[in-house]
Amino acid sequence: MAREQGFRLRFAHGSLLTALTRKIIALRLLLIGDIVGKPGRKILTRAVRGLKIEEKLDLVVANGENAAAGSGITPTIYHELLAAGIDCVTLGDHAYRRREVFSILETEKKIVRPANYPQDAPGRTFTIVRGRNQVSVAVFALLGRVFMSPVDCPLRAADRVLASLPSDVRVILLDYHAEATSDKQLMGRYLDGRVSAVMGTHTHVQTADEQVLPGGTAYISDVGMTGPFYSILGRRIDRVLETTKTFRPTHFEVATKDPRICGAIVDVDPESGKATSIRRISIDQSQADRLADVSGT
Ligand SMILES: [Fe+2]
Ligand SMILES: [Fe+2]
Repeated sequence: MAREQGFRLRFAHGSLLTALTRKIIALRLLLIGDIVGKPGRKILTRAVRGLKIEEKLDLVVANGENAAAGSGITPTIYHELLAAGIDCVTLGDHAYRRREVFSILETEKKIVRPANYPQDAPGRTFTIVRGRNQVSVAVFALLGRVFMSPVDCPLRAADRVLASLPSDVRVILLDYHAEATSDKQLMGRYLDGRVSAVMGTHTHVQTADEQVLPGGTAYISDVGMTGPFYSILGRRIDRVLETTKTFRPTHFEVATKDPRICGAIVDVDPESGKATSIRRISIDQSQADRLADVSGT
């Protein structure tokens, strides 16, 4: 509503009110959940420009930890995602799976590794990117510790990141890459009122608990997966089944059928940094094809 009001004011009174309208137009952010392999990349790169136009998105952040054949990310894929319209890439527990990634983790500004890795681990603990309307947005990622490999305390790591952000940065997005919903809820409550959004990734299953918490932080336990849905979390069903039944190791190849894009869109007041709404999205191939037509890609 505030968005539309802003646009109307601008049209009614011209450029003199540009500064005023900028203040009241909500910033619209999208977090895309774990991109799994080629099927995930293909549907996302096909649809993201159309999605940006149709949803009037200011900034699109995507978790790319599974983008390279289901595990890790390469410099080529990072650049492919940026060229397609992704504004920032977050990583998770598979951040370092591809050795090639080390060449971009320090030099590229639009990719972050989990902030609760050890201090000397390669990569940025946060980055500041600008959306279409030039508002600064801080993006960072953290790993959970329940049913996951040991890492530094994510709560204290969140405090460290927030303490190191420039004071004029009010819009802050956390990709909380964790397994347990309890872990994720705790982070949401811990950061409520201190960040604009705590959005979960890693489980590859979208949850229906999106809400704006009392302090103004948008929250969802998991935004879901961007990849083949006829699968087990993006991998071939027959391979996972075989290993489960026989204990014989097989290669969990990335599946191919029914690719979808999953994520969540958050509207944020750029002045206060508080979220005003959060909405889940799930886009199948036919919707992605329609979105490709919107952008002419
Ligand atoms: Fe993942
Ligand atoms: Fe993960």
